[in-house]
Amino acid sequence: MLEWNQNLTVGIPEIDEQHERLVTMAGELDAAMRTDYATHTLRPKFKELLELAAAHFKTEEKLMEQYGFPGLAKHRQDHGAITMQAKEILEKNERDKPLPYMMGILDFVGNWLISHIQNTDREYVAYLKNSGG
Ligand SMILES: [Fe+2]
Ligand SMILES: [Fe+2]
Repeated sequence: MLEWNQNLTVGIPEIDEQHERLVTMAGELDAAMRTDYATHTLRPKFKELLELAAAHFKTEEKLMEQYGFPGLAKHRQDHGAITMQAKEILEKNERDKPLPYMMGILDFVGNWLISHIQNTDREYVAYLKNSGG
């Protein structure tokens, strides 16, 4: 289930706030897709989610740069891969592909996002904290 919970907290307020918005929005989108088949109403939400994710990734990458986090390149790649998947959903939505297919992808991206927050993001957070950030 795509839902925000306290276990996802990393302890940097700005990042936690952004993560919460991202996960909540992905969850809303997931729920909307299951109940509303009017795909045109979902497009603006997808776009909003993509913009939010792009802004969040930028915030993180800037922080990692600032603190000289050695895993930045790998982390950036992961952000790029999530973004690609999200863009794929948007394109499929444009071509009006069957909704179950899109839901599957959204599920995948949502889980990926959560796993990214739970695992990958913790690596740079630990580094920042050790560096006095
Ligand atoms: Fe993140
Ligand atoms: Fe990240």
